[in-house]
Amino acid sequence: MAFASPYSLCPILLFLLPVCVLAQTSQNISLNSTLTAALDKNDSWKSPSGDFAFGFQQIEAGMFLLAIWFDKIPEKTITWSANWSANGGNLVQQGSTIQLTTDGQFRLNDSQGKQVWTANLTGSGIVDHAAMLDTGNFVLASRDDSYLWESFDQPTDTILPTQILNRNSSLVARYSEMNYSSGRFLMQLQSNGNLVLFTVHFPLLSLNTDYWSTNTNGSGFQVIFDLSGSIFLKAENESILKNITSIGASSSNFYQRAILEYDGVFRQYVYPKNDSVADGRPMAWSSDSESHVPDDICKSITMQRTGSGACGFNSYCHLGNDQRPICTCPRGYSPLDPDNEMMGCKQAFVPQECDGGQDADLFDIEELPNVNWWGGDYEYFKPVSEDWCRQRCLTDCFCAVAISNTASECWMKKLPLSNGVQLNDNGTKALVKIRKGNSTTPVANGLKKQKKRRIIQPSREIQGVSLRSLTYKELEGATNNFKEELGKGACSTVYKGILAIGNNNLIAVKRLDKMVTDSEQEFQAEISAIGKTNHKNLAQLLGFCNEGQRRLLVYEYMSNGSLASYLFGNSRPSWYRRTQIAFGTARGLAYLHEECSNQIIHCDIKPQNILLDDSLTAKISDFGLAKLLKTDQTRTVTAIRGTKGYVAPEWFKSKPVTVKVDVYSFGILLLELICCRKSFDQDAKDENQMILADWAYDCYEEGRMYMLVQEDEEAIQDIERVEKFVMIAIWCIQDDPLLRPTMKRVSQMLEGAIEVALPPKSSN
Ligand SMILES: *[C@@H]1O[C@H](CO)[C@@H](O)[C@H](O)[C@H]1NC(C)=O
Ligand SMILES: *[C@@H]1O[C@H](CO)[C@@H](O)[C@H](O)[C@H]1NC(C)=O
Ligand SMILES: *[C@@H]1O[C@H](CO)[C@@H](O)[C@H](O)[C@H]1NC(C)=O
Ligand SMILES: *[C@@H]1O[C@H](CO)[C@@H](O)[C@H](O)[C@H]1NC(C)=O
Ligand SMILES: *[C@@H]1O[C@H](CO)[C@@H](O)[C@H](O)[C@H]1NC(C)=O
Ligand SMILES: *[C@@H]1O[C@H](CO)[C@@H](O)[C@H](O)[C@H]1NC(C)=O
Ligand SMILES: *[C@@H]1O[C@H](CO)[C@@H](O)[C@H](O)[C@H]1NC(C)=O
Ligand SMILES: *[C@@H]1O[C@H](CO)[C@@H](O)[C@H](O)[C@H]1NC(C)=O
Ligand SMILES: *[C@@H]1O[C@H](CO)[C@@H](O)[C@H](O)[C@H]1NC(C)=O
Ligand SMILES: *[C@@H]1O[C@H](CO)[C@@H](O)[C@H](O)[C@H]1NC(C)=O
Ligand SMILES: *[C@@H]1O[C@H](CO)[C@@H](O)[C@H](O)[C@H]1NC(C)=O
Ligand SMILES: *[C@@H]1O[C@H](CO)[C@@H](O)[C@H](O)[C@H]1NC(C)=O
Repeated sequence: MAFASPYSLCPILLFLLPVCVLAQTSQNISLNSTLTAALDKNDSWKSPSGDFAFGFQQIEAGMFLLAIWFDKIPEKTITWSANWSANGGNLVQQGSTIQLTTDGQFRLNDSQGKQVWTANLTGSGIVDHAAMLDTGNFVLASRDDSYLWESFDQPTDTILPTQILNRNSSLVARYSEMNYSSGRFLMQLQSNGNLVLFTVHFPLLSLNTDYWSTNTNGSGFQVIFDLSGSIFLKAENESILKNITSIGASSSNFYQRAILEYDGVFRQYVYPKNDSVADGRPMAWSSDSESHVPDDICKSITMQRTGSGACGFNSYCHLGNDQRPICTCPRGYSPLDPDNEMMGCKQAFVPQECDGGQDADLFDIEELPNVNWWGGDYEYFKPVSEDWCRQRCLTDCFCAVAISNTASECWMKKLPLSNGVQLNDNGTKALVKIRKGNSTTPVANGLKKQKKRRIIQPSREIQGVSLRSLTYKELEGATNNFKEELGKGACSTVYKGILAIGNNNLIAVKRLDKMVTDSEQEFQAEISAIGKTNHKNLAQLLGFCNEGQRRLLVYEYMSNGSLASYLFGNSRPSWYRRTQIAFGTARGLAYLHEECSNQIIHCDIKPQNILLDDSLTAKISDFGLAKLLKTDQTRTVTAIRGTKGYVAPEWFKSKPVTVKVDVYSFGILLLELICCRKSFDQDAKDENQMILADWAYDCYEEGRMYMLVQEDEEAIQDIERVEKFVMIAIWCIQDDPLLRPTMKRVSQMLEGAIEVALPPKSSN
């Protein structure tokens, strides 16, 4: 086959880019030449410029790949390799040979002398010589120099400038970075002219689902990689149908290649030929954000009926900062192949049994906001609440994950999970069922009973709840004349009551003792602002009473009381549960600060004001009262609404009070959650341990995190997260409010969505 230049219509280009012409002259490799795979020499045939070499490259100890590579760069990046075994890695042992025989055959024999690969000659003619060209093409040629075999016609996963993909040609991704056997993705210019990316039914190469295409059925003819670094699809009449990728770097200064990588992305790369032409690029292969397709592989592969999706089974995919896909195992799962994160995850715990003796209490739900697996469905419910969905999964032995969304939908999914992806759509949440930590900490008995009694029943989501106005008499009746006191604060007392309102029968009635705003209108306005808030981590205001001096607020009743009694009670709550409470509280505060229509500063975050519902979800209470009680307007110490120990330093200075006061208090609360102790403990073993914030900082500085969670096996197992939480807390309690992160950031850091920077050194 004659070498057909794609630039034949473009003489100016030919003139400017002489490489194209030079490529045709080369050092000929004569018949009866042999290369041997050997440890003591790198036997290869080089192109005239020395840019490319053909020969054996050692991939792992004593194992060689017959390949073509960039020879002048230290990486010796492979651009082609002989494919002869579908999944053995195509490697041969030392002593193997490649021979251009006297009768013009080109054969790879293994170390036992057995033939494992041969070049299938095309066209008629007898091979006279071979040549490694400066384009990176290795050819077998006849006496008249027409090519009977070209590596460019048998691409593996890479194409180079001047290389052309014709109809029916494919690139097959390798299995992993260093394993050259076929992987899970294939690019094909189909016989109909459409250029398509497919997943395959691994380990076979049969096509599964397409995830990207040029939509050029009937018109696509050839894929061209030109010397200016553009890759495009052209029609038979030479016009450009689609630009595929391009990179602004010319072949005279840069080595170029484009590869269907093992992650399923087709990427174009450049490498400066020397540092004087690098022009800001690193002396390494680099790519640009426009130089790959598809844009977001994670979101491109979601509709596969069989197969795992972009990542392996039970894993989910999201793009990293460098635009590359990252495959992550959910908590409780571990990678199948620790060296290749794309190969999926396995359950790392003993699954729930279905023999009737199952005990839902041994399992817990790990929330993954914005994550979905599109495959694995076996049941669907609507309309149900997230809580219902969660309980349903916990008590269903088939359920591995439930997906809940803000449209009150709930899907049950079984293993293996497929097409996992992290979305931008924050209305969807994956509820992953995991066995509770292999910790010896027993589950508190009271909680166990509580759960057993639960009646599972679909409940519609309360939407746009309207506040009920109640009379004092009604509330007097509901609380049996204010008989059962639940708690007492500086300006209010809370009572338990019975009243059918919303979905509830039990209510908590807060009677405001001291008076507050005198204006009826103002009271009404504040109440309605509180009433408009609606978030899973806020205690829901259901109604109110406003009769002169008698002002009462009606909330849903929280069966598990306050975080203070839960955290500082007799039995220590599990580390996992404590992390969930930290997540919930952070999200609730972020909502108050940033997402509800009127920003609300709480001003009194402390464990007494975090309530726990019957599934132990954290609910912030008493928000909105700061304004109602008019205490944040005079900034004298006596009028501070906040509680000693949780109060940010700016309260004491004449500095403006912002949402950052809540961040400070949250930081203290977070330390309490980590250590299961109060922020101030007069009876501490050691004087240095009295003030929790100081002690935590010391432990952090000295790298002795375990001191903070002594005898807490579960937390010690998760010590990296403990440390991360302490770092976040240290950020929250910075003296300078500007240094403290927003609650939204705190929430993202806690949940691992963003990294935690090293906190500043202590100023004292
Ligand atoms: C290689 O072989 C061809 C065809 O026989 C010949 O025209 C050419 O001059 C040879 N090149 C070299 C460098 O020997
Ligand atoms: C092929 O090369 C070997 C040594 O490399 C030599 O002994 C042999 O005679 C050659 N055969 C022919 C036909 O040239
Ligand atoms: C062969 O190449 C490798 C990689 O480039 C290099 O590390 C090694 O030293 C070379 N071996 C010999 C014998 O030249
Ligand atoms: C690689 O070799 C296997 C086995 O011979 C074959 O099925 C497959 O099609 C080849 N792949 C390529 C890209 O040629
Ligand atoms: C490469 O991956 C294939 C497929 O999993 C496996 O069979 C083969 O052993 C691997 N090869 C190497 C050299 O690790
Ligand atoms: C390679 O294998 C073929 C076929 O098995 C055999 O005819 C040939 O002699 C072998 N060549 C070498 C150099 O071992
Ligand atoms: C070479 O061609 C033969 C017969 O056409 C075919 O069976 C074989 O798979 C081909 N080998 C390769 C490596 O393409
Ligand atoms: C591609 O393959 C199909 C069937 O395998 C064949 O009919 C067609 O002629 C081929 N097209 C080209 C351009 O080789
Ligand atoms: C592509 O076009 C051919 C006719 O050229 C048609 O038979 C085929 O169904 C089309 N395929 C798709 C996926 O549209
Ligand atoms: C392809 O890119 C070139 C230059 O970047 C531009 O002129 C041309 O219009 C593009 N063609 C298509 C089909 O997008
Ligand atoms: C829990 O314990 C089992 C059995 O001892 C062990 O196989 C498993 O890896 C452990 N899981 C975790 C998450 O530590
Ligand atoms: C949720 O998504 C909406 C729309 O994309 C966005 O406005 C809002 O800020 C997001 N909220 C969070 C907490 O990410």
